[in-house]
Amino acid sequence: MSANGMSNASVSVIAAGAFAVGGLFTAAFMRKKQPPSFPATQGTKNATPAIAYPKYNYTGDPKGSFMAVCDMLIDEICAELPVKYDLPAKETQWVKDMLEYNVKGGKMNRGLMVVDAGVAILASQGKTPTNEELSQLAVLGWAIEWLQAWLLVADDIMDSSVTRRGQPCWYKKLEQIWYIAINDAFTIEAFVYKMMKRHFMTHPQYIQLMDLMLESTLQTEMGQLSDTLCDVLGLKDLTPERWELIVTYKTSFYSFYLSVAFAMTFCNIKDKAAFDAAREILVTMGVYFQAQDDYLDCFGTPEQIGKIGTDIADKKCGWLFTKAYHQLANDDQKAFLDKHYGNCKVGSDEEKAIKKLYADLGLPQLYAEYEQASYDKIMSMKGSKEGAVLAKAGVPWEVFEMFLQKVYKRSK
Ligand SMILES: *[C@@H]1O[C@H](CO)[C@@H](O)[C@H](O)[C@H]1NC(C)=O
Repeated sequence: MSANGMSNASVSVIAAGAFAVGGLFTAAFMRKKQPPSFPATQGTKNATPAIAYPKYNYTGDPKGSFMAVCDMLIDEICAELPVKYDLPAKETQWVKDMLEYNVKGGKMNRGLMVVDAGVAILASQGKTPTNEELSQLAVLGWAIEWLQAWLLVADDIMDSSVTRRGQPCWYKKLEQIWYIAINDAFTIEAFVYKMMKRHFMTHPQYIQLMDLMLESTLQTEMGQLSDTLCDVLGLKDLTPERWELIVTYKTSFYSFYLSVAFAMTFCNIKDKAAFDAAREILVTMGVYFQAQDDYLDCFGTPEQIGKIGTDIADKKCGWLFTKAYHQLANDDQKAFLDKHYGNCKVGSDEEKAIKKLYADLGLPQLYAEYEQASYDKIMSMKGSKEGAVLAKAGVPWEVFEMFLQKVYKRSK
């Protein structure tokens, strides 16, 4: 027998082993890719196939690539509605126009952050994201943007707002059929779950991603409730503590925590302590962001913020008001607020007088100090136990710093 020879027996053992390994691989692959079955909702009509992901140019054109995924999502929905949901052409066109009007035109900070955070986490794991991974992160980003879109459609009705993102609010645009906007808000919400199902049904973290979206939606709704219930509260109840509760729920969870939690979940991070640490940092950031939003509602120009501020007319529990009323105003100034806060029209002399009162009380200066203190507090978390837990779980600090750069000292 030659030195490099092999007996027939040993060749066949190797071949059988290779076959068995190949078989296992195939089985694992099939298990992962085989879509689950949903007998109660599948119906008799087949879903239209997913459209192929467009080429994602993350380094050269991050915004354009992200937008292209939104167009794909709208196309998928509009292709499926007539086939699986019997929707006539006119209604399908309504859905398309309604989505184009409401889901686009924002700064997309929340959505883009999912992609940026995902890329940063994958890079720290030594991985370069594939086109599919980038596109799927973008789908999660759009899930947040669409959540935001339906919340804004509803919020503008609840607040009687006039403009949004530099154009008429959707319900205002519809004029005498404004009430369809209520159904449109619910419809966009339903599409969020539809697109998550379409793109993540076979993803190992599908149920975690879905749970995150459901919980964040409930948190936001409870924040919206606390916010709108201010209508029937007295001014003495609109305290700084209540303000912090409202903004934590109505803004921080879905605008800050959700983006990073989606990216972490997508990247298979399962360490609860890491999610808790991320939440701690991002909720702090969100509270600061909302203080800024409240400040700009009063002192930003409509060109800057793309809307006309209504917080004073709407008796909002805003950052400026809670500081003015509970910490800074004298008895005469409080009496003036008692008489006119939430009891004046947008652009009226009384509203202007309240803005002047805020300025006289030194609120712009106080806000600038608060902004600096918030920034310092967040940056100090890098070296804290939160920072250490995150680093250990593979979430690099740059994720949080990127987020902070996007919102700190923004003017719109
Ligand atoms: C990515 O975008 C940049 C900037 O627009 C462009 O120069 C580059 O050619 C694009 N790359 C690909 C692969 O399309």
